[in-house]
This record gives sequence, structure tokens and C-alpha cells, in this order.
Amino acid sequence: MIDVHTHILPGIDDGAADWEHSIKLARAAAAEGITGIIATPHHYDGKYSNDAETVKALTDELNGKLIELDIPVRIQPGQEIRAHNDLIFNWQAGKLLPMGESSYVLIEMPSSQIPKTMEQFVHELRLLGVRVVIAHPERNAEVVQNPDRLAELVELGAYAQVTTHSLLGGFGRGIEKSAWTLCRRGLIHIVSSDAHNLEWRGFRMKDAYERVEQELGPAWRRYFERNAQALWNGRSITDQPTIPQPTAKAAGWSKIKSLFGK
Ligand SMILES: [Fe+2]
Repeated sequence: MIDVHTHILPGIDDGAADWEHSIKLARAAAAEGITGIIATPHHYDGKYSNDAETVKALTDELNGKLIELDIPVRIQPGQEIRAHNDLIFNWQAGKLLPMGESSYVLIEMPSSQIPKTMEQFVHELRLLGVRVVIAHPERNAEVVQNPDRLAELVELGAYAQVTTHSLLGGFGRGIEKSAWTLCRRGLIHIVSSDAHNLEWRGFRMKDAYERVEQELGPAWRRYFERNAQALWNGRSITDQPTIPQPTAKAAGWSKIKSLFGK
């Protein structure tokens, strides 16, 4: 398995606090069957600033330690870049990193709203040959209220990543519902952990993929796994399988559940 959104680099954001925690996260990833991780520390979010050179140097150092310790996980550099006014300028200036060796960038929106400039970013970056992957839109209040807002961005050429913990209910019932709604509408292209620590925000990739298989069918699990692998290999995200229609029985059950506000 490949995990393309993580905070595994030590001491540079609210993820792994130090080398010990980074190594523990890597060991946990290996135990789950994750072989490749893209490190995406926060960047430009008002609190953390992690420039391309710092991220690349720490990634190299972590890979060196993983080889030394014989932990079968490799890391590629990336950033979780907060949407900011100078985004296009900073990209052109070479200050921002794509996800690994791909031509996709991981962009984080504020949790309360979709920035007015988001459509422009998606469009302009696309003209530059760069595709935007929106980090965890299921946690954005505007998207939760109106998934059509995400659909508009996807229509413009954006992609979206859902977080394993959202799918598994770790952020509460509302976010869980939002995550599955976006998946069922075909607005999600990648599943990843956004792992920060082992205590309460680990990987849970295996659990999430199993739930995807149960809820959406094996073709969707393969689709998400294939896309993560494609980013790792520097290739493009592929076309989606058909959205599974709920069976009459399942549709009846969800109607009953909705009557009870679930
Ligand atoms: Fe993140």
C-alpha cells in the first residue's frame, strides 16, 4: 500500500514530534503493509512553513535511517500546502513541492470555507501542467453543507483525497457521513491517512480500504489503491469505476436510518 498524505517527518509540524516518533510511525506503517509514504508536512498554513529544501533533506535522512534499521518503507517528499494568495507565484518560483515525483500538488483549504481563489488556482495550475489534489474536503464546512461546491472544482480538473479516519468515524458521525457522500458521488480519487501520530491519528489504511470494499465494492478499492500507486510512480490518476447503486434492500435500510437521523 501507498499512503500519499502523512506528517511523518520529525519536529517540523504537528505530526511526528521527533525522530523516535517518525521511526515508530514508519514501523507501524510497515506492520500494516504500507511500503511507500509521501511526507506532506504543513506549509504556508499560518503556523508552519516548511520549504522544499528542508522537506527534501529530512526525507533523505529518514530514508537513510529506515534502510539502516531495515524497515521496509520508503519516503518521498511533498507538502500539504495551504491555499494562499501567492500559490501560483511560489509554484513558478520552485518553492513548492509536488506529491513525490508526480505532477500533483496537495492543497489544503481552511476548514470553514472554500477560498474564493480556489477555482483560479485549479485552473492556472492545470495550465502549468500541475493537478490539484484537495486534502480532506469532507472536513470543509462549505463542502459538508454543499457537495456541489466540490463537484465544481472537480469539474475544473481538481482531484480530492479523503482521510481514512473520516471514513472510519474518527472525526464524528457528521464527517463520516460527508466522507461517504463524496465517495458515492464520485468526487473522491484517493484515500490516505493524514497520519500525525500513533496515539489518535495513525494510518488505518487497511481498515479504510476494507470499509471501501464493503461499502463501494472491490473495484473502488482497487481504483483508490491504483491511484495512490500511480502518484508514487509519478503517473496519472485513472478513470473511475461506475458508482455502485444501492440495492433495493440497502436503499430501504438507508431510508429507515435517515428517518432516525443517522
Ligand atoms: Fe495533513
